[in-house]
Amino acid sequence: MKLIIDTDPGVDDAMAILYAAAAPEIDLLGLTTVFGNVTVETATRNALRLVEMAGLKIPVARGAKGSMQIPMMTPSAHVHGAEGFGDVPAAEPEGNAIDEQAAEYLVRMARQHRNELVVCAIGPITNVAQAIQLDPDFATNVKKIVLMGGAVFVPGNITPVAEANTYHDPHALNIVLASGADVILVGLDVTMKILCTADDFRDLEHHAPEFGGFLRRASHFYLDFYRTVVGIEGCGLHDPAAVIACTHPELFAIETHRIEVVEDGAEKGRTLVCQGQQGFPAGVCVGGNMDQIKARFMEISRTNP
Ligand code: BDR
Ligand code: CA
Repeated sequence: MKLIIDTDPGVDDAMAILYAAAAPEIDLLGLTTVFGNVTVETATRNALRLVEMAGLKIPVARGAKGSMQIPMMTPSAHVHGAEGFGDVPAAEPEGNAIDEQAAEYLVRMARQHRNELVVCAIGPITNVAQAIQLDPDFATNVKKIVLMGGAVFVPGNITPVAEANTYHDPHALNIVLASGADVILVGLDVTMKILCTADDFRDLEHHAPEFGGFLRRASHFYLDFYRTVVGIEGCGLHDPAAVIACTHPELFAIETHRIEVVEDGAEKGRTLVCQGQQGFPAGVCVGGNMDQIKARFMEISRTNP
């Protein structure tokens, strides 16, 4: 599957990208970066580092530094650490981002791989919305847009009703939903039901000393956030679940609902199920085979160096 990951790395973004790099059925064409867990500058540096760690020769295109309409928000340093990888110090990549902006790169790749390209957005979905605005054919050129975002039938994580990625750019997600593209939401409805624990990260380090060791060190701070703030032992398998949903939708229970995102006010970022003609149809992951999704993540990630 030809895949582009749009990302704000981020600990679970790193897990998703290293998974995608190792998954034999994924042809990872490139990464696009976006603000969110960190600034877009840090996201771009981290994405370049991950590409180099994975030994991939793929482009990284820098994207949006803020959302479409909401004033700049501060990155989630308390969740992912100031540099995005917990308390692992920032490392400078050798390479640079390409000159093309993320939205332009997405448009070009969707034209080049018409009906074949899947875009997996695991940060605020600003770049994808910009690509839709840039090219009226983008939504039909892409095969599918799978996003980590939303909390449709469950509480939010950044506010009581909103998931972080949708909260950071609700207008962008409404543009994506309205575009007519085939959209799948992999939200907290499933990702909080699949936890990765300290033991899982130790297991990854044992089997894949380099990547697993990096993830174990990076996850330390992230697991601490889940323990002290959320009150659970383990982090949600958010971004990796979205990547797995791209290639293995059969592992998920997907319902079609008309969805609209609340753009402002106290419920900003909430993914609402609409009746009648309100909202736009999207596939919503509401459950699935959690054990198999996690087993797949572990099995493939263990094959990393
Ligand atoms: C999402 O927000 C970010 O913190 C994670 O990387 C994930 O994409 C979870 O709500
Ligand atoms: Ca993310």
